[in-house]
Amino acid sequence: MAVVPVYKQGWTMDDIHWSLFDREKVEPNLLAAIKAAALVEYNAPDYVTYLKRVFAGSAPPTVAAIEQWGQEEAQHGRALGRWAEMADPSFKLEEAFARFRKGYTPDHFGDGQQGSVRGSRRGEMIARCVVESGTSSYYSAIRDATEEPVLQEIAGRIAADEYRHYKLFYDLQNAQPGPELGLWKKLLIAVGRVRESDDDELAFSYYCANVPPEKEAVTPYERKKFSKMASKASMAAYHRKHIEKLVQMVVKAVGANPHGWIASFFGALLWRRLAAKGA
Ligand SMILES: [Fe+2]
Ligand SMILES: [Fe+2]
Repeated sequence: MAVVPVYKQGWTMDDIHWSLFDREKVEPNLLAAIKAAALVEYNAPDYVTYLKRVFAGSAPPTVAAIEQWGQEEAQHGRALGRWAEMADPSFKLEEAFARFRKGYTPDHFGDGQQGSVRGSRRGEMIARCVVESGTSSYYSAIRDATEEPVLQEIAGRIAADEYRHYKLFYDLQNAQPGPELGLWKKLLIAVGRVRESDDDELAFSYYCANVPPEKEAVTPYERKKFSKMASKASMAAYHRKHIEKLVQMVVKAVGANPHGWIASFFGALLWRRLAAKGA
């Protein structure tokens, strides 16, 4: 059985060079996307509770790694939120987060459910690898797209964390006893998780982050509309190389060759789809 690596916190809020903030270089589309991302990241404690349930009875290092992971995700939320508050003093992380929490709870985070909604711990880890591949490539894209020095630094630090998270879940997947899942089963789980990203989480976080409470009455939440706005705001940051890296990470997580035909096929497909959405 493979050993799950001991996990170390890489940085704290005090390590960020906040004084280098340059208001002139804040780009409104990216700011809107960062506000929404801050809420999703800040929501990590719910995922920790869920994952700990999935891994109930596991060795203490596994539980500790999940807890450390959750703390790092919440810190991503705090760092992005603080940056957004500097860039737009009318934005308040805690306030926007409270609204997001009130209106968004995925089914499987509710109490009373046991085990993984993916059917197995291995399946759960593939789904986590998909998410970490997505966030790792997303923050790399933001780091490369922005000219604002503090956001560059934060996005760079977060992208590195997300890559470590990917490796954690990749190793945890391979450390699970029992037979490996078949390639197609794994691909289905991965594609299923990618499709879930179209759910309320992204659209509603964008809404709560970018529509202030006093405007709620005149601008009510419409999932389709805000999903489109959320995609448009974040897609602008991506270049094809980020998407290719994302797909390679996902393909590796399902045990296929990251430089083979599956990666090329899905890379081209996803890039076309994202380009159409961002247009
Ligand atoms: Fe994160
Ligand atoms: Fe992560």
